[in-house]
Amino acid sequence: MTTDEIAPDIFRISVYVPEINLQFNHFVIRDEEPLLFHTGLNAMFPAVEAAVRKLIDINKLRWIGFSHFESDECGALNRWLEIAPNAEPVCGLIGALVSVNDFSNKPARVVTANETFATGQHRFRFIPTPHVPHGWDAGVLFEESRKTLLCSDLFHQWGEMKPLTHSSLTERARDALVQSEAGPFANYVPYTHHTGRILEELAQLQPTTLAVMHGSSYSGDGAKALRELSVVMREVLCPDAARGK
Ligand SMILES: [Fe+2]
Ligand SMILES: [Fe+2]
Repeated sequence: MTTDEIAPDIFRISVYVPEINLQFNHFVIRDEEPLLFHTGLNAMFPAVEAAVRKLIDINKLRWIGFSHFESDECGALNRWLEIAPNAEPVCGLIGALVSVNDFSNKPARVVTANETFATGQHRFRFIPTPHVPHGWDAGVLFEESRKTLLCSDLFHQWGEMKPLTHSSLTERARDALVQSEAGPFANYVPYTHHTGRILEELAQLQPTTLAVMHGSSYSGDGAKALRELSVVMREVLCPDAARGK
C-alpha cells in the first residue's frame, strides 16, 4: 500500500496484489468537498479506508466517482457510504439507472454529458465513454483546473509500477493488451466503431496528467498519449481495421 501525490492535491492510493501481478489505484482529490475516484474492492476496503483517512476528514468526503459498474471501481461503495455521511455517488445516467441506484444505499447524483461540478478549487467534467474501456455505463471525469483525466482502465499496465512516470505509457499499454488477449483476461477491452472517436474526444481535452487505475500514472502530453493508445487498441484488438480492411 503506497500513497503518492501525483498532481497538486491529487493522491494515488495503490494496492499491489502479487498473486495477479496487478496494482489497484484509488484517487483522492483533496478539496473543500473531497472526491474519491474508485471505491476499490470490498476486500481492500480496510486498507484503502486507512489511507484515505490520512489524507482527509472522512466526514467531509463528498463525492464518490467511478467509471463503470465493476467491483474494483465501485464494489465498496456502500462501505464508504456507511462511514462518510456526506458522501454521494456521482455517475452518468446509464450507470445510475442500470446498476448504481439499485446497488447503492444512496441514489447517485446523475451527471449528463459534459456537465461540470465543482468541489472547491477543482472542477470536474463528466464525459460518457460507452464501452471505453468497457461497460455500457462507462464514463470518465476530467479535472479541469489541473487537467487531470481520471481514466480508469485505459493505459492498463501489469506489474508493480512507479506511481507516476514522464515516460510514454504506449508500449507498456500495448504489452499489457497483448498479454491480456493471450490469457484468461482476453476480451478485457472491446474495440467498437466508437472507440477511436471517444479516445479522440478525450485527447481534445489535452490532459497533462493521466490518473491510471492499474499501473503508473502519466505526466506529460496526454493528448498524444491518448492518440497513441487509440492506434495501439486498433492494432491489437482490431487488426483488420488497422490494415484498412
Ligand atoms: Fe474495468
Ligand atoms: Fe479496473
